[in-house]
Amino acid sequence: MEIILKTENLCKNYFPGEEELRILRDVNLNIEKGKIYVVFGPSGAGKSTLLHIFGTIEKPSEGKFFFNGEEISNFNRNQLAILRSREIGFVFQAHHLLPEFTALENVMIPAFIRTENMERQSRKKNEEKEGIKKRALKILEEVGLKNRIKHKPSQLSGGEQQRVAIARALINNPSLILADEPTGNLDKETGKKIFQLLLDLNKSIMATLIIVTHNEELAKHSDKEIHLEDGRIVG
Ligand SMILES: Nc1ncnc2c1ncn2[C@@H]1O[C@H](COP(=O)(O)OP(=O)(O)OP(=O)(O)O)[C@@H](O)[C@H]1O
Ligand SMILES: [Mg+2]
Repeated sequence: MEIILKTENLCKNYFPGEEELRILRDVNLNIEKGKIYVVFGPSGAGKSTLLHIFGTIEKPSEGKFFFNGEEISNFNRNQLAILRSREIGFVFQAHHLLPEFTALENVMIPAFIRTENMERQSRKKNEEKEGIKKRALKILEEVGLKNRIKHKPSQLSGGEQQRVAIARALINNPSLILADEPTGNLDKETGKKIFQLLLDLNKSIMATLIIVTHNEELAKHSDKEIHLEDGRIVG
């Protein structure tokens, strides 16, 4: 079984004031490629922090973190940016959409960044842009936003914004999808559809899914559960 993510005695501490806050403690995990994981735990347990480390947005304070067998603490900013844009789709708990861009543009941006990174010949650029747009439209349709593509985030409901964020995370066909309460703002039916979309992606592009959720229903479709409490894995 191939391992995509591995942590060794991973700890994360913050120093917001005089006292050190120990947020993650001795986390040892092997995340297998192509599997579905759900992360459970009470508020403040460190779920988002763990996901941010998995997404290479935060660095561990102690211990090691490997992505596809490579220790990423040695990566520079540029290498990290390339890794993220090629491999990772992140659905943040706070969606971080860019307010001045439309839904469609928000979804396309990571794909543009990715093609920039790949330094393709300019001749190919237009073709590629068309391809990106097509794909973005298809994903937006799948998340039920076909008739909202020209809306800016401020013109979308909370759940619609979240669905744009989900579409954005999928545009580059990531091998790893990290989703932090992706259906937190959605009604039950829409939430189900979004989960189904994620499950389908797991099957079709063999994406590894790591989903923070309070949804017990989803756990039934997962391969493994990670339970966090007070920064420790408890099961
Ligand atoms: N930059 C920071 N500086 C100081 N403390 C932080 C920082 N980021 C997070 N924390 C603290 O770390 C703890 C874990 O935060 P985290 O966001 O990982 O929790 P969570 O399990 O995702 O909770 P929730 O279910 O509410 O989203 C919290 O107590 C939080 O206050
Ligand atoms: Mg959180």
